[in-house]
Amino acid sequence: MTIDRRAFITASGAALATRALATPAIAATHGKRPQGRFPNGFLWGAATSGHQTEGNDTASDTWLLENVKPSVFVEPSRDACDSFELWAKDLDLVRDFGLNTYRFSIEWSRIEPEPGLFSQAMLDHYRRMIDGCRDRGLTPMVTFNHFTCPRWFSANDGWLSEKSPVLFARYCEHAARRLADGIGYATTLNEPNVMRLLKWMNLPAPLLAAQRAMLIAAARATGAVAFSAANAANVEDLDRQMAHLLAAHAAGRAAIKSVRPDLPVGLSLAVQDDQAVGSDVERDAKRDYCYGAWLRAVAHDDFIGVQNYDRTRIGPSGPLPPPAAAPRNGMGQEIYPPSLGDAVRYVHAATGLAVIVTENGLDTTDDAQRAAYIPAALEGLKSAMDAGVPVRGYVHWSLLDNFEWVFGYGPKYGLVAVDRQTFRRTPKPSAAVYGAIARRNAI
Ligand code: FCB
Repeated sequence: MTIDRRAFITASGAALATRALATPAIAATHGKRPQGRFPNGFLWGAATSGHQTEGNDTASDTWLLENVKPSVFVEPSRDACDSFELWAKDLDLVRDFGLNTYRFSIEWSRIEPEPGLFSQAMLDHYRRMIDGCRDRGLTPMVTFNHFTCPRWFSANDGWLSEKSPVLFARYCEHAARRLADGIGYATTLNEPNVMRLLKWMNLPAPLLAAQRAMLIAAARATGAVAFSAANAANVEDLDRQMAHLLAAHAAGRAAIKSVRPDLPVGLSLAVQDDQAVGSDVERDAKRDYCYGAWLRAVAHDDFIGVQNYDRTRIGPSGPLPPPAAAPRNGMGQEIYPPSLGDAVRYVHAATGLAVIVTENGLDTTDDAQRAAYIPAALEGLKSAMDAGVPVRGYVHWSLLDNFEWVFGYGPKYGLVAVDRQTFRRTPKPSAAVYGAIARRNAI
């Protein structure tokens, strides 16, 4: 597929400028205590993804990358949280906390394990999950692609292939035919901008070299010329990857809409709270590189999913370390709850779209930090809403402590702990704090 990127950018840039003029000014409510309750019908959710929780996702590209040698994954995902079997328990937890929304992903590699070969049984499995949400009064928010793709897809150049948008759309259409009438909100792609964000962060050269070696090993293992995944791709390929992901989003959205035109469809973007220290120039360049094309591409979407975890302070020569006195999690990362409200304001101002926070959370082994983080982040979100940003929902990452990609099972984002041997789920106190907010629809 050939995309005239310059024409695309010029045209959509003009559309964006028009929309920016039409977007009502957002009042300055920073620092003010938010007022009152969240709107009726506000979505309060928890999120997971298939590969990170289901376990034994063996036909996926990521399973292979975890298990080839060398690999940048510190450990393989193995059984994950066994949610492929235990999904009903997961839904019970979401309902029992008092939430009304569950975001999860369907696994392309299970649904289409070989090119063009679609599994009715796997579609039925996800149908049961969607119906299971409805039975419990939960709105199912379904991600059609949360990074992982079928192994055959990534062994055929993955998102670097010109065929990738069409292949993705074919999968979306099949899945939508079986699932769309039960879904509440659909997203095509999860964080399609994540590799650009990582590139902007200047990942160390040895890590990039290790990723390259892993992709070569995966190509060798599959007899492929090249192997490339959504969240594991070489830096020189990122422009091509983005061009195809942009086309895939449009094609996937059209495919889903062709089945059910009234289903709200969007995508989820990884957005940091980018704070300029000194001049705005570097900050704006970063925004343009990491989000620009995506903020233009969502023009026809029904909403935009914002996924925010942190802020970045950006000086004249790039990212700056957090202030010395900043509170930190156990891993030494800054805890900065206002980043959520700031990210949401930025994205809405740039697109004019309604926002759903499809991920926000904290990696910590100290659950008291999470219990404090959630209301603090929601204060910033509510201030943004009080200022006029149309936010439809907040979905916390994550329901479960799960498989955090290259970091394995070390990070702890869950509202619920999972025993790695028995898969027993144990809610943490922060789940009760969050659930109480959701039940009263107010912080
Ligand atoms: C996001 C991913 C999600 C999870 C969180 C911590 O970038 O979408 O799968 O890894 O980060």
